[in-house]
Amino acid sequence: MVAKLTTRVTQPDRTAMRAAARVLRAGGLVAFPTETVYGLGADAANGEAVARLYAAKGRPRFNPLIAHVIDAATAGRIGVFNAAAAKLAAAFWPGPLTLVVPQQSGCPVSALATAGLDTIALRVPDHPVAQGILAAFGGPVVAPSANRSGHVSPTSAAHVLADLRDRIDLIVNGGATAIGVESTIVACIDGTPVLLRPGGLAREAIEASLGQALAIPEQTTHGDEDAPLAPGQLASHYAPRARLRLNATLIESDEALLAFGPDVLPGTESLQHMLNLSPRGDTIEAAANLFAHLRALDAFRPDAIAVMRIPAGGLGEAINDRLRRAAAPRAVSTG
Ligand code: TXA
Ligand code: MG
Repeated sequence: MVAKLTTRVTQPDRTAMRAAARVLRAGGLVAFPTETVYGLGADAANGEAVARLYAAKGRPRFNPLIAHVIDAATAGRIGVFNAAAAKLAAAFWPGPLTLVVPQQSGCPVSALATAGLDTIALRVPDHPVAQGILAAFGGPVVAPSANRSGHVSPTSAAHVLADLRDRIDLIVNGGATAIGVESTIVACIDGTPVLLRPGGLAREAIEASLGQALAIPEQTTHGDEDAPLAPGQLASHYAPRARLRLNATLIESDEALLAFGPDVLPGTESLQHMLNLSPRGDTIEAAANLFAHLRALDAFRPDAIAVMRIPAGGLGEAINDRLRRAAAPRAVSTG
């Protein structure tokens, strides 16, 4: 099947939703917007469709996927929610939070999608198009970010096309995504909830809701060396072609600049290529622009992209996490 761009829909458009559901039922791959980034969706219960999804992304098989569901009640039939998980689901769903919980017995999600783990990552997206597709399809949809493994996550339909044209069946174009970084992932299994990946929901909001600090993941595995707890946390992820130089305080020749805030760095006058994540210094605006600006600067093929310092709080935690990974020495990437 050939990838085709549908007309742009920001509100649920019944024809587009039904087309997406038909492709999913037939075992095909549909890219669609969420509030965080574009996802590449497959029928979570269909192992062959999931295998096709890994192949389209070029993603190693051991990296488990997030199952997207329409509401918390549906999530509760797939995963086991302890008190902390139930509290977070009630406070933040729909929204940019993924909860990793034990699977219910008879969990319909294919073992390939969960990489054989006995836990499952669940998320209720807060986007009318994603919700519309889930309603039309009527079951869980696994969806990693709709990029080739190791590339930056897509925040527009054009990014999806650039990476996955001819490898997927349909893109539902809902315009640019609002949040721009992936969901925050919290594991609620036993004991203190663990922050597996900082993301579009600030840690501070989660900790305030729980009334306790989130734990840091142990660098342990699920018995298998190839199955880290949050494989997306492997180094060298979200990588542009250009080298990234973080916390830059001046610009060198042949660099592009990813700026943040109102301050102007020495050397900026002679710069060819500069984009500002948020001229007013707002980490929410910066997160929304992060991946699109990285792609745009990388397209000029600079030697390096100098990145100004981003504050640590709020969505700054997720932004700095993605920038550190993008700057890490290149290794096998994991999607
Ligand atoms: O915002 C998002 O989360 C986007 C949109 C499309 O929903 N999705 C996304 O998916 O970022 P992906 O596949 O790129 O990242 C999923 C992360 C990976 O780091 C994976 O290792 C982790 O979730 N994960 C999935 N299942 C897990 C599990 N059972 N235990 C621990 N980590 C898990
Ligand atoms: Mg990804």
